[in-house]
Amino acid sequence: MSVLKPRGTNDFLPETTAKWRYVENKLRELCKEYGYGEIRTPIFEETELFQRGVGDTTDIVQKEMYTFVMKGEHSLTLRPENTASAVRAYLENKLYGAVQPIKVWYMGPMFRYEKPQAGRFRQFHQFGIEIFGSASPLADAEIITFAWEFYRRLGIENLQLHLNSVGCPECRAKHKKALQEYLKPLLPKLCESCQSRYERNPLRILDCKSPICSELTKDAPTMDEFLCDECKEHFEGVKSALDAAGIPYVLNKRLVRGLDYYTKTAFEIQAVGIGAQSAVCGGGRYDGLVEELGGNPTPGVGFAMGMERIFNTLDACGIELPVEEKTDVFVIAAPADNKQILNKAFELTLELRREGIKAEQDLLGRSMKAQFKAADRSGAKFTVIVGESEVEKGVVQVRSMHDGSQEEIEESMVASYINALVIND
Ligand code: HAM
Repeated sequence: MSVLKPRGTNDFLPETTAKWRYVENKLRELCKEYGYGEIRTPIFEETELFQRGVGDTTDIVQKEMYTFVMKGEHSLTLRPENTASAVRAYLENKLYGAVQPIKVWYMGPMFRYEKPQAGRFRQFHQFGIEIFGSASPLADAEIITFAWEFYRRLGIENLQLHLNSVGCPECRAKHKKALQEYLKPLLPKLCESCQSRYERNPLRILDCKSPICSELTKDAPTMDEFLCDECKEHFEGVKSALDAAGIPYVLNKRLVRGLDYYTKTAFEIQAVGIGAQSAVCGGGRYDGLVEELGGNPTPGVGFAMGMERIFNTLDACGIELPVEEKTDVFVIAAPADNKQILNKAFELTLELRREGIKAEQDLLGRSMKAQFKAADRSGAKFTVIVGESEVEKGVVQVRSMHDGSQEEIEESMVASYINALVIND
């Protein structure tokens, strides 16, 4: 039996990677417009970074990390997300010393040992942005606007923005206490995961997907009842900026998110109708994270979106991306068993490519008839025929695959001739 790829991973073949490139370019375009610079951090980090950053009580740290120890060194972990790494890089490279805010973006593979299912993988890809050094609600609104604008540009419309404020540590402590009091008598009836969350992280019980837990907690106290004045004011600021940008949102008091670092704003963008894994983007503010990882108090806010889920959503919406990449020219050696002609065809193909033309030729030593068939299949707009008498005269035949018309063109002029036709096409 041959070796297969590990569970929960994917191979992306050229047809798919062409779509990825299209989407990645759209994201790069937005980063330029919004003023974000790219950051690339290692794919593995010291395990402690995620324990402290993402949080010891989270499912990610408790159950989902790919952790390994190499030859007696420190424990290392394949990154399950990139925010903690971005903060580490901000501190390690002293970016706090530069003019604030610092706005960065990243894209790449993340690793979580999850139960694979449609839309949920063990190696998946995220695009994300982070802003360091701004406490303004406009920063929260900017990142949400970025994500919203991106999906809009792809033509995805079936989206819902879920918005909540999870408050600061002070309001959260009050909420936690009230929640534990409310949940105490219900504890035996909650699911096993929620029972274990009761002490460590009772807020997460609010967004448990089990119908029994949802029903039992439907009247549980929610964070909005405990927000301090500053958190309230911040949340109002975010909402009014989103209103100004015309971005609709659903206030979701039960939205908690699965990472411990959030303060104030938390949000998710859900794609309606793509199945269970409908969160296409998640993020929020994390004003305590830089300090938690050893820096001075520094506000931060950001999001990450799952790349695979973008494609699920595009498929579910029937959106075709304009990525058909056909060749412009197929160069035919006639006949194919003449070495001099073959070399001439090879040289000409190279020349055309140097002039920016997408050019291909036969690499299988096929007959002329078979080369014409291959040209047809390639979708080329033109064939360039390099024949014996043509080579003697220093010309080639350029044939339009569209209407069969054929012109004799001087070899030195063929690139500019085709370029003019391709541009006019
Ligand atoms: P997250 O909600 O864990 O947040 O992940 C963000 C997005 O990554 C999800 O909404 C989903 O689209 C995608 N995703 C997560 N896990 C998987 C998986 N197993 N398979 C496929 N896609 C997945 C974070 O990671 C935070 N770092 C976001 C953030 C940035 N918050 C502030 N800044």
